[in-house]
Amino acid sequence: MATTDDPVRSRTQDAFPVDNPVQALLRDHDLVRKLADAYRNTQSADVRKQAATQLIHAIHMHSRLEEGVFYPGVRRVDPNLIARFEEDHLAVDDLLATLQGMSLDEARTEPLVRELIDAVLSHIRQEEEQLFPELKQAALDLTSIGLEMQAFEANLVHMQAQLSDQASRR
Ligand SMILES: [Fe+2]
Ligand SMILES: [Fe+2]
Repeated sequence: MATTDDPVRSRTQDAFPVDNPVQALLRDHDLVRKLADAYRNTQSADVRKQAATQLIHAIHMHSRLEEGVFYPGVRRVDPNLIARFEEDHLAVDDLLATLQGMSLDEARTEPLVRELIDAVLSHIRQEEEQLFPELKQAALDLTSIGLEMQAFEANLVHMQAQLSDQASRR
């Protein structure tokens, strides 16, 4: 895969695996882990700030995709599978909303970013160890969910691009 300075952008440029949407979620998880490592392992305040910005964006996009399409799609098949994962999302969404309203220069954001990282890493590990294997075992055809996710993500990326375009023209 081509490398780029912007891992968030490179994620969205890859073809969406319509017949295996879990693959797309796993790619997001890998990106989140990579950005969390970058945040935790640097001594540089600038690198940390950039990693935090990208991390918040990556988690935001991933959560919209899961909450908007993947979870509702799975819920139609088996409502019990995802209830507790949706609860995790409520807690993470609260943290995200708080952080999105703050300047990342502020020292007081650091404990919140670390709390966000801990919560998200634990959540994605549980999705990978429990939810995804259960889905695989159930041998469901997830293609219709995959198609919906592809369209949803394309729309999300388009809206984000418009927003940043508007912001840069202001
Ligand atoms: Fe999730
Ligand atoms: Fe996830």
